[in-house]
Amino acid sequence: MNFSNTLAIAIIIGLASAAYGYFSTKKKKPLRTPRKMEIHDVIMFSQAKEPELIRSQFSRNLVNPSMDRLLSYLNLTRHSLDICMYMITNCDIAHLIHKLHSRGVKIRCIVDADMAYCTGSATKGIEKQGIELRWMKSTNLMHHKFCIIDANYDSIDSDVIPFVMTGSLNWTTQGLNGNWEDVLVTSKPIIVHQLHMEFEKLWTQFKAIDK
Ligand SMILES: *[C@@H]1O[C@H](CO)[C@@H](O)[C@H](O)[C@H]1NC(C)=O
Ligand SMILES: *[C@@H]1O[C@H](CO)[C@@H](O)[C@H](O)[C@H]1NC(C)=O
Repeated sequence: MNFSNTLAIAIIIGLASAAYGYFSTKKKKPLRTPRKMEIHDVIMFSQAKEPELIRSQFSRNLVNPSMDRLLSYLNLTRHSLDICMYMITNCDIAHLIHKLHSRGVKIRCIVDADMAYCTGSATKGIEKQGIELRWMKSTNLMHHKFCIIDANYDSIDSDVIPFVMTGSLNWTTQGLNGNWEDVLVTSKPIIVHQLHMEFEKLWTQFKAIDK
């Protein structure tokens, strides 16, 4: 092999790997902000008296600092959000759910059948947006209160670490502003996995809402 042949081959290999690099980074494009960090936190709602309210970037209303933290964790969602929540009435959370939906996040929502259309329920609005919603008609309560962020998509970018939020908190204004509640936030894989499996199980058992 002479020098010019070797040079030609080197150029071809160079171009090919540059093209490969270009296309493989292109594939990762949907990712807006890398989210590589492990997350472990507890959000405490412990208002014995009137909580101090702050301006939140996620809401037009003034909210308490714990609520602002909860919303900022929710806003980290990049691909998928699976919600399993006894009751959703809080309009700030509902508003952010709509925003995530319009940003292209794949959202699935499981709610309690009796609570779904109670006064002030955000369920109707969520359903109107075209977000998939399921419930089970039962005398038992669907009393879970958790959500799973970014566990439900075919991961090619390992930049996004899934996490869950779970605790005593209903996503209701009463729960968010009046009660003593806790929300555990964790990306611990064994915890995320177990809640994800539970969600998938309920998702197949529960039915789409028919009126
Ligand atoms: C919410 O998430 C979006 C999309 O990643 C981001 O552009 C925006 O800055 C976030 N909002 C706040 C207040 O962090
Ligand atoms: C949330 O859930 C409880 C049941 O755990 C329900 O009875 C209540 O109406 C809701 N409470 C608040 C404060 O949001």
